[in-house]
Amino acid sequence: MDWGMKNRISRIIKPETGRTVMLAVDHGYFLGPTTGLEEPTKIIADLVPHADSLMLTRGILRTSVIPESNVPIVLRVSGGNSIIGDDLSNETITVSVEDAIRLNVSAVALSIYVGSKYEHQTLKNLATLVSECERYGIPVLAVTAVGKEMARDAKYLSLACRIAAELGAHIVKTYYCEDFEKVVKTCPVPVVIAGGKKISEKDALELAYNAIKHGAAGVDMGRNIFQSKDPVGMIKAVRSIVHENVSADKAYKTLKI
Ligand code: 5RP
Repeated sequence: MDWGMKNRISRIIKPETGRTVMLAVDHGYFLGPTTGLEEPTKIIADLVPHADSLMLTRGILRTSVIPESNVPIVLRVSGGNSIIGDDLSNETITVSVEDAIRLNVSAVALSIYVGSKYEHQTLKNLATLVSECERYGIPVLAVTAVGKEMARDAKYLSLACRIAAELGAHIVKTYYCEDFEKVVKTCPVPVVIAGGKKISEKDALELAYNAIKHGAAGVDMGRNIFQSKDPVGMIKAVRSIVHENVSADKAYKTLKI
């Protein structure tokens, strides 16, 4: 791995702990004005000081984050679908690597849909993106998106994560599940978890705690942070779990809800 690639990865996964708190605010790419992100500028500004990186689309980066912000950017570069469209898995690469470089990103992110109608297309997107990004030392985060009909269990998620790593992804994002350590053990690159739909703050913190305990390199969490009644408190609580091994109970007690 070359210097640039290592340097960019270390901007996302903090060398001090080997872990990361990524803030995901890319939901609009297929959900439109997601609850909590209707007007993203303020909520992003409030949360950025507590995030190790920001995962978002080119459009929201340009319009809603000040260029002087020093936060490492993980740019979503796949899409082309919508929640009311034909099939969520019908994604393409939406941003050129040239534009990603112009935006000074630390990594790019793309979804794969293993077991879905457009599985092949999304895996080909990943392989193409990795080949292109390797030329410039840009890490690729593969998001193992789960179709409605797929079970989020260790068997399926191990399959999806391993395929992502085999195709060259440098970091893989997936969901927490029972026997999560099997997913981590069989994936040769760092695994981070998504938070998923909004659940109670207590449950979301327990999810983060369990994921870390079972080997996750961190979280790439969105709705359970920006839809919380105490978004800043929530990201700080998640940070304490990820970087300081604080218990979910102790982290929960710090929230103002
Ligand atoms: C959508 C994404 C989101 O970034 C991801 O789902 C993380 O957000 P949340 O914690 O709200 O699930 O990649 O495909």
